[in-house]
Amino acid sequence: MIARVFLYEPVIHLPGLYPICGDYSMCGIFGIVMKEEQTLGPILIEAAKRLTYRGYDSFGAATIAGPTIDLRKDVGKVEEVAAKYHFAEMRGQRGIAQLRWATFGEPSQVNAQPHLDSDGDLVGAHNGNVVNNAELRELFLSEGLIVRSENDGETCVHAVERYLNRGYTFLDAIRLAYGDLEGDYAFVIGKTYDDKLYAFKKGSGMVVGIGDGFTCVSSDLPSILPLTRTIIRPQDGEIVTLWADRVEIRSVKDGRLIERQPELVTESMDAVQKGGYPHFMLKEIHEQSQAARELLHMLNSNREVKTLVEKMKTARILYFIGCGTSYHAALLGAVYFAQIAGRAVIPILAPQFIAQYVPTVNYEDVGLFVSQSGETKDVLNALEAAEGRGMTCYGLANVIGSTLTKETALCLPLCCGYEISVPATKTFTNQALTFLYLAYRLAGRDVDVLDLTPSLIDQTLEMVDSSVNALAEEINAWNDMYCLGYGLTYPVALEGALKLKEVTYAHCEGMLSTEFKHGPLSAVSKGYPILFVAGPNDIPLIISGLNEVKVRGAHTIVIAQEDARLRTNADKLIVLPTSDAYLTALLGILPLQLLAYRMSVLRGYDPDFPRNLSKTLTVD
Ligand code: G6P
Repeated sequence: MIARVFLYEPVIHLPGLYPICGDYSMCGIFGIVMKEEQTLGPILIEAAKRLTYRGYDSFGAATIAGPTIDLRKDVGKVEEVAAKYHFAEMRGQRGIAQLRWATFGEPSQVNAQPHLDSDGDLVGAHNGNVVNNAELRELFLSEGLIVRSENDGETCVHAVERYLNRGYTFLDAIRLAYGDLEGDYAFVIGKTYDDKLYAFKKGSGMVVGIGDGFTCVSSDLPSILPLTRTIIRPQDGEIVTLWADRVEIRSVKDGRLIERQPELVTESMDAVQKGGYPHFMLKEIHEQSQAARELLHMLNSNREVKTLVEKMKTARILYFIGCGTSYHAALLGAVYFAQIAGRAVIPILAPQFIAQYVPTVNYEDVGLFVSQSGETKDVLNALEAAEGRGMTCYGLANVIGSTLTKETALCLPLCCGYEISVPATKTFTNQALTFLYLAYRLAGRDVDVLDLTPSLIDQTLEMVDSSVNALAEEINAWNDMYCLGYGLTYPVALEGALKLKEVTYAHCEGMLSTEFKHGPLSAVSKGYPILFVAGPNDIPLIISGLNEVKVRGAHTIVIAQEDARLRTNADKLIVLPTSDAYLTALLGILPLQLLAYRMSVLRGYDPDFPRNLSKTLTVD
């Protein structure tokens, strides 16, 4: 028998705003299993609210009882969608809720989760990304399955459905589907005429809660802790079956039962939300490898990248436009484009672009507007002015649904998820990595070398940790310092100086190393801290600059790969892992982010919310 399905109309569709491919999303899922049918709406709404830090483009919930699936979902924030569709009244024996953070694929009702299978007796939702989404969708369509959306959460449902259709048990269907679904994700699914939910994950996090008379599963702890503090953390390659009074974990490989003792969570909710880190800034610094991995997944499978590269190739003049940290990424991008692809780019601060270049631009020019928030007024002013002159405008933004993503012909997502701390960290790294990737593509070079980036990021953070801690103690008394770089590391020095300024409230100036002798040299006194970021090809030049200040008493610190010449000349060397000059520049920002963080904490400041600053500046 086909389940009764309630799906609210109308289907809202926002045409053409986003390239549709996979769903490279953070997103959040929650599922709960009770003994008997009851009102589940308020529990699902509350759980979703506690996951809003993972996304808010759309909200959906499904409840299951006997033959019935009640599915309600739409674009909008939890409260809006819940009120509009009366989620509070939803009843069932089981419930699934999902919040979506679309970084790819438009936010629309049809793409909102949970999703049904072809005949509507299965319902499931996921977070994360299924990188072979496009291929699997083609396959499902060719097999006659009904695919309603572009979303890869739906792909997970069909991946299970097709094996159930062939007569496999639910567990075996999941085991086979697991092998088909590539990427990093967590998924929960349930069926009519059943009393269980099933969940599994690959790469992404997932937590199971065991309560009094119920069990639940979620992408993260905040939605579980108000219900129960007894949890299990399933691993990749495991399938969890949830009944109201117990859970069972089985291996994907051979279906064997896995014993796992539940743990008791004793931390506060605030600590849990920061993932065990004392501040969001430190958490976000450590999220950079995962964010880079997500970004590379997206760039490798996004068909629009080719269009963008072609347009940039043929542009008369190419501009990279942004403010603050995003401008520094644009500066680094311009060096990458020149050195790797031989393509000249003008990187420019957005307000200066209006004053200096808008009078000269026309339809043959291309502008890539870079912004974490996609809402910075200075950037949007420049976009409006450029569009007024007929320039082709593209975007690079982290917040999907922001004005920049809507107002540009094509906007690539940064795939960082939420960046909560005011100082930008992971978004800078992913902006720089996007530029590096585009430069390789423009040059027709193999981008596979960039796959090393996530592990190099982890390696760097581990390698520099203790030396950065020591350095923070050493120079913390100074309220004045410089950060110098050259070529590829010049934008990194500027960004490092900005980080130090933002969170330590000290004056730290970023500068081209060769410019230091043209004036600032007079500031040097005994012990004056000067940081250098050195690329492997610029060592002799950096050594000259270093000695110029050292003989005048400066305390010289160099961030670079291991090098005997630097060891002899500098007072302190912070060692980066071995890689090429392009990746060295990108990795060079990590110790500076950490240094800024440590000094801020040593000074007793809150690095997440520095005084006077705002994450998003929507004023002129
Ligand atoms: C503000 C923030 C900076 C940020 C800049 C540009 O000033 O405090 O951290 O770099 O805006 O923001 P965007 O969102 O456009 O990248």
